Amino acid sequence: MSTAPSIESPVATAPSGAASTDRDWWRDAVVYQIYPRSFADADGNGVGDLPGITDRLDALADLGVDAIWLSPFYRSPQADAGYDVADYRDVDPLFGTLTDFDALLARAHQLGLRVIVDLVPNHSSDRHRWFGEALAAAPGSPERDRYVFRDGRGPEGAEPPNNWQSVFGGPAWTRVVDPGGAPGQWYLHLFDAHQPDFNWDNAEVREEFDAVLRFWLDRGVDGFRVDVAHGLLKQAGLPDFVPDPELGTMGFAVPTAEGDPSGPGDEASGGDEAPGGDEAPGGTAAAERASHLGPMWDQDGIHEIYREWRRTLDKYSPPRIMVAEAWVQPLSRLSRYVRPDEMHQAFNFDFLEAPWDAPVLRAVISRSLAVNATVGATTTWVLSNHDVVRHPSRFGLDGGRWRGGIGVDDPQPDAALGLRRARAATLTMLALPGSAYLYQGEELGLPEHTTLPDSVRQDPTWERSGHTERGRDGCRVPLPWESGAPALGFSPTGRTWLPQPESFVALARDRQRDDPDSTLNLYRAALRLRRERSLGGGTLRWLDDYGPDVVAFGNGDVTVLANLGPAPVALPPGDVLISSTDLAARGALPPDTAVWIR
Ligand code: NOJ
Repeated sequence: MSTAPSIESPVATAPSGAASTDRDWWRDAVVYQIYPRSFADADGNGVGDLPGITDRLDALADLGVDAIWLSPFYRSPQADAGYDVADYRDVDPLFGTLTDFDALLARAHQLGLRVIVDLVPNHSSDRHRWFGEALAAAPGSPERDRYVFRDGRGPEGAEPPNNWQSVFGGPAWTRVVDPGGAPGQWYLHLFDAHQPDFNWDNAEVREEFDAVLRFWLDRGVDGFRVDVAHGLLKQAGLPDFVPDPELGTMGFAVPTAEGDPSGPGDEASGGDEAPGGDEAPGGTAAAERASHLGPMWDQDGIHEIYREWRRTLDKYSPPRIMVAEAWVQPLSRLSRYVRPDEMHQAFNFDFLEAPWDAPVLRAVISRSLAVNATVGATTTWVLSNHDVVRHPSRFGLDGGRWRGGIGVDDPQPDAALGLRRARAATLTMLALPGSAYLYQGEELGLPEHTTLPDSVRQDPTWERSGHTERGRDGCRVPLPWESGAPALGFSPTGRTWLPQPESFVALARDRQRDDPDSTLNLYRAALRLRRERSLGGGTLRWLDDYGPDVVAFGNGDVTVLANLGPAPVALPPGDVLISSTDLAARGALPPDTAVWIR
């Protein structure tokens, strides 16, 4: 029986089918995300730093990734762990110096690793010089115009200018006190109150970010991960947000097998218009569907900004890239960010959000490849990052709630089931054509820290949500390197900015290195085979002989099967190249297992 969606032509012509060269290295790259606070701490203060990363880069070369992406290390008061930048051209002393950055970059390049840095253009820190100048200046001044200041509504302007909510909870507006001490205007912050949004209609803001791009490009970085890429421009007039009753405030829906949650049926039309055009693919209906995200997201004018940035990047050689963090649906809207004259990649959050369900996974993979093919972009795949519950814990909840984090009094994940599914999911992901993003520690099978004491939480989400959302600390815990060392090798003094759970001891890298069945060695072997067999540059062919619970496809000479169902499935003849769990019964693929066969 076949339940797999048809994928005939769009996928077969996907440009990711072409082998990548130095000129388009990103098309099939595996990029490893480093969260600097939690990777490795050289100076012993309990917070990871750039020298710590440099010292440990060999482990990533050995793992077999192509590039690293560094979350922010810029000068910052750390109100949102560095996503609140006070100086875009300097390293925070917490993480080191610009010289340390140069040393990291040089060592990475020596090891053949490309380096992508985070760019945070939607907002700055409230300690950025410009924001200080804005507070000191009068309403209507050029200083205030670099941010989004408005008068309040109601008597005395005591109500916020509109009803927008911060992503972290609470109103998206904070009222300032004028230099004379009287209540003043309000400023917009889509995130924490310490993260005022820039006004991207302001020419000075645009010039400044072009200069920031060039600052890091001149230092030699290979690209940028663009934070909140869908948020820079807001709808003119800043109208109230009328939420879609079915989709909730954020508007990002869990993908289904039937179609794009917010735009069924229009995914294949993602590139109908000429590259560079701003018409919504699929016409007005698609544009209307996009608006469910709210007047603060995914505004059409945003693309002109990325075209400008692309022109800047294209002046550099070897080629530098941009990857969008854009929580945009449907996928046809997301594909607009990766048109030939805009960004190179966008994170595929539909894939990350897909539940452990074969029809949904097949549908998301099909749609992703088809939509990206229409604009000539490579597809990306991602299962974990610093904002979501780690995938071994998500998949251990069996349909349970994970958005907003997991706390000690929430239902706890089944660790063994979760890890088993996570290994199968990763093996499936690494066989897909395109580029994959890994989050530090997933190669060790690290779970979320789901029993962190609330007293140590640092994510602003916990406070701003009025203690209803635990937030993201559980996926940001410092890495375990050596099981017998202080702080499991993270820090020479044993200090860690968040406590490590007991489960990290057995998962430390040194414990896994010589164990052929370890998750670390599964990742190493999969990355080696992926490269040897050029799977990232391959072409996906669905195979529909394995029943509804199996995600089955061919890529080059490799057959990939992932059994998401409750019963074993007969394996086809051939050599098993790698499997996510031991194939105890020869000839059968157990539940929650993936395999590559040749
Ligand atoms: C997305 C980042 O990944 C997240 O960590 C951060 O809190 C927000 N953007 C705001 O910058």
